[in-house]
Amino acid sequence: MGRYIVFGGKKLIGATDIHGSKNAALPILCACLVNSGLNVIHNCPKITDVFNTLEILSKAGCSVKWDKSTVIVDSAKAHFIVLDDEIIGKMRSSIIFLGAFLGRFKKAVIAKPGGCRIGRRPLDIHFEALERMGAVITDNGRCFVCSVEKLKGSEIELRLPSVGATENILLAAAFAEGRTVIKNAAREPEISALAEFMKCIGIETNFDSSGVITVNGTDSFSDGEFRIIADRIEAGTYMSACACAGGEIFLRNAEASQMSEIIDVFVKAGSKVSYCDGGIYMKSSENGISPLNIKTSVYPGFPTDMQPQIMSVLTLAEGTSIIIESVFENRFSHALELNKMGANIEIDSLKATIKGVNALKGAEVNAFDLRAGAGLIAAALSCGEMSVINGSQYVKRGYESIEKSLTDLGAMIRYEE
Ligand code: EPZ
Repeated sequence: MGRYIVFGGKKLIGATDIHGSKNAALPILCACLVNSGLNVIHNCPKITDVFNTLEILSKAGCSVKWDKSTVIVDSAKAHFIVLDDEIIGKMRSSIIFLGAFLGRFKKAVIAKPGGCRIGRRPLDIHFEALERMGAVITDNGRCFVCSVEKLKGSEIELRLPSVGATENILLAAAFAEGRTVIKNAAREPEISALAEFMKCIGIETNFDSSGVITVNGTDSFSDGEFRIIADRIEAGTYMSACACAGGEIFLRNAEASQMSEIIDVFVKAGSKVSYCDGGIYMKSSENGISPLNIKTSVYPGFPTDMQPQIMSVLTLAEGTSIIIESVFENRFSHALELNKMGANIEIDSLKATIKGVNALKGAEVNAFDLRAGAGLIAAALSCGEMSVINGSQYVKRGYESIEKSLTDLGAMIRYEE
């Protein structure tokens, strides 16, 4: 348990590196189980969820070694384990072990996954798809007990483009007999990254931007070497810090091509954003922040993982903004905390009404999930008083060192155990 001490009110000026994407790294690390071989994964972020995923892989017999930001996972000797380690309950992405275990070991016993408390987060789409592929899944109260004789390639249409369900199906489809076609699949860049990794370990995978993914199952795989894509949400987070505090920043390695919706929102709010080779340059607005109406949606829409951060920006807009959270049903925990800092936000179910104020004030606030914590830090950078943001354990799940990155940009922020 730790917290961040922030003393804001200073414009951000500087440059920082954007790390590998948490939501690309986690499924790709699970996928290292598929090839029973050597996997060299470059640009892997050093975040809690990655460390926890690697711990589960090593408990399952993989050898795991770090070399700077490259992690080498050898899954040749991997074996079945019951996935009931308390780690499983700490993160949502542990459910992706289900697809990998069912494929490789034809069985999986997995505790109920945890993760940010941003909604009920059911698993019906995961289970319906895997059962369609031949899996038998029962719930013994504590764990899901899953087994399959032989996974069958199937045509699967998702009732909604679930990121995690798409990932689970992809990993199971690698081992399935025949072809699997996923319709209405998730289209996030992290999904296409996983599809690219699967191709690099010898699985014929076709990802088209219309949301149809085709996988030809196989029983022969190859070793893999892959570079994790940049984290578009980390980049967007620092852009929100710059919009809140003012200033101009350069985000090295940020991949603008995956962030057009995010960039559009900052430009509409008054910032100047340009991208040259190697990263994104942003200069905050010099005549106030324009209010916006935003609705989060699946890719390529405005991502739900940027909703808390843009809410912080809009608390300072010159007018009233509306945010509709359409992906998760309980992702406004940061609003009450922002109101403790002098914001004027009203929540009505999935709709937040944000009346802009001239300035926020320093306060002690609590983060209840990863992106809420990041958004509160961005808000705290806007005011020339001290703020304390509790709940750093959530932030550390997704940011390699948010305090170092923001210090690179000129912020006054400290992390305290
Ligand atoms: C992934 O979560 C991300 N996590 C989340 O990022 C992200 O917010 C989310 O995708 C949406 O983009 C990782 O990649 C590790 P979903 P996931 O399945 O897979 C409902 C962050 O901050 N649903 O696309 O859990 C679900 O309840 C985290 O980095 C079902 O109803 O998201 C939600 O309302 C937070 N049944 C919606 O779909 C299912 O079987 C989207 O969930 C599965 C999902």
